[in-house]
Amino acid sequence: MIIDFQSAVELIKKGDVIAFPTETVYGLGADANNILAIKKTYELKGRPSDNPLIVHVSSVSQAEDITRNLPESFYKLAESFWPGPLTLIVEKNPSVPDIVTGGLSTVAVRMPNHPLALKLITQSGPLTAPSANKSGKPSPTKPEHIWQDYGDVLPVLDGGSTTIGLESTILDLTSELPEILRPGAISNIELSEALGEKIRPFQEKKFNEPKPVKSPGTKYTHYKPDAEVKWIRKIPKSLEIKALYIVHSQKKLPNAKNLISYGGNFKALAKDLYDIFRSADHQQYEKIYIEELPEQQKDTMISALNNRISKACNE
Ligand code: TXA
Ligand code: MG
Repeated sequence: MIIDFQSAVELIKKGDVIAFPTETVYGLGADANNILAIKKTYELKGRPSDNPLIVHVSSVSQAEDITRNLPESFYKLAESFWPGPLTLIVEKNPSVPDIVTGGLSTVAVRMPNHPLALKLITQSGPLTAPSANKSGKPSPTKPEHIWQDYGDVLPVLDGGSTTIGLESTILDLTSELPEILRPGAISNIELSEALGEKIRPFQEKKFNEPKPVKSPGTKYTHYKPDAEVKWIRKIPKSLEIKALYIVHSQKKLPNAKNLISYGGNFKALAKDLYDIFRSADHQQYEKIYIEELPEQQKDTMISALNNRISKACNE
């Protein structure tokens, strides 16, 4: 159900969980100091409790309150990219409840670039917020997606469609070299330029690789529509009727209602991807074929798209 801004603030203060917009995807917000509200978040989402939450702040001083020993790199990056789609992993302040961080000694912090989110957090204090989907489903990029997962009972602060469409870049500042744990709209090139030092780019972990997982959420099933998602090298001559095709080429294409071309506009594809996944299920497509993305383009969304689509294929 859509709620107005004042009710959103009141519900959060009362210990309720509400969905709110950010520039990446909708989040399922709760007061970051209220253990019961955070418990409710895990239950609602059906999320395993060892998968920690991002704390959303509206100022650097709020970030300082929940962390300790912040490195200089933190301040440089906050200055360059906040508010924006960048989550920073830093040492947590012992006052942060363990349920927020799944028992880790670090905490994920981000300042979202959305006027409603910033205003909400300023009035309610820091908010824990996973993406507002049920665990395993694609993240919501519009209020309808939240109703698909929860029915109309969950309070939603409506901000229309989100502009980026894929979750934030996660950068770990606690390892020797800053390391990207999840690719997003802010690229490793931008990050290392702002820092003036090298960073470890995102390493796509091989399926079943026995390495310890740094970002616990990355080991769980994600972003998955019911339809089977598959990469294709090129567009086949004849299309399967029960399959949806997402392609990038700008060449002349067969005119078919189950073929969507993004003509190389990867930002637009990122914005729509989860909506396409969800509407494909709604239209009962059995498969979604996606043309492989070009390599070696400076387009910052390519790595994030590759990551989310591969996860939707694999698991
Ligand atoms: O764009 C976003 O980041 C969205 C919006 C709502 O802000 N949020 C989001 O949250 O994507 P979620 O919970 O769906 O994904 C957060 C990821 C998970 O994979 C989690 O394991 C990881 O961040 N994470 C959280 N705290 C961490 C920590 N201390 N160390 C490493 N990874 C952490
Ligand atoms: Mg998520």
